[in-house]
Amino acid sequence: MALVELRNVSKIYHLGGEEIRALDDVSLDIDTGEFISIIGPSGSGKSTLMHILGCLDSPTRGTIQLDGTRIHNASTRELAAIRNQKIGFVFQFFNLLPKLNVLQNVELPMVYSGISGRERRRRAMDALKLVGLENRSKHRPMQLSGGQQQRVAIARALVNSPRIVFADEPTGNLDSNTGEAILTLFRQLSQEGRTIALVTHDPEIAAVTPRRIEIRDGKIAKNVDPKLAGLAASRFTDHASHSRNTTTPPPLG
Ligand SMILES: Nc1ncnc2c1ncn2[C@@H]1O[C@H](COP(=O)(O)OP(=O)(O)O)[C@@H](O)[C@H]1O
Ligand SMILES: [Mg+2]
Repeated sequence: MALVELRNVSKIYHLGGEEIRALDDVSLDIDTGEFISIIGPSGSGKSTLMHILGCLDSPTRGTIQLDGTRIHNASTRELAAIRNQKIGFVFQFFNLLPKLNVLQNVELPMVYSGISGRERRRRAMDALKLVGLENRSKHRPMQLSGGQQQRVAIARALVNSPRIVFADEPTGNLDSNTGEAILTLFRQLSQEGRTIALVTHDPEIAAVTPRRIEIRDGKIAKNVDPKLAGLAASRFTDHASHSRNTTTPPPLG
């Protein structure tokens, strides 16, 4: 069974008497260990797809299984719990809390999970080490560069050892060198076995991932998957075999 199984999923918005099919009958599998990009022009439905895959929203029609659990009929409360345990998010504008320091920002996803303060700090420091920012734990977000702030957001996304991390235009607010460093970090995390989906409108970013899913008008227009293509001799071989062999990413700490 795939980590994520989407079947015939549609998301329909009604706006001033008009019907908008943000997603139109989408079916899709994502396996553990995959590094994928979801690409398409503005308004094509990428964020809607990410919100539904990430338990931020429910579909109008269709079924979704995440890690063996059916989530398409889950309540808002159930979705919140699943999201907290199984999903990590990274956003374009980092979404860090300005009044908390770096360590406290990274601890935040653990605050409601009954983990002791000491253990929370230990895990948050481990996550900061993964992104190379253990020496910035006492800084406030505003005292960091954009690239460093995004690294903090990535540490926060990883701290609960999620089953999958979604990053929506994670380099959209960074200069190109910093953006490349962030993509390199995602690639490293992927090579360590984590499942990562980058959402982007930028073909250069999509080019770094072995698998690319192209969305147009709410439909999957292309699914470039090295596993399906059987590209045995390609540069994607490592990723493809990786995604079949990996079951669980390494837990933090
Ligand atoms: N909450 C909403 N209400 C109404 N229409 C929406 C809403 N969210 C998204 N849409 C519409 O759905 C379509 C897909 O949006 P979105 O998923 O944000 O696209 P993308 O992330 O690819 O730019 C767009 O036409 C957008 O205007
Ligand atoms: Mg979007």
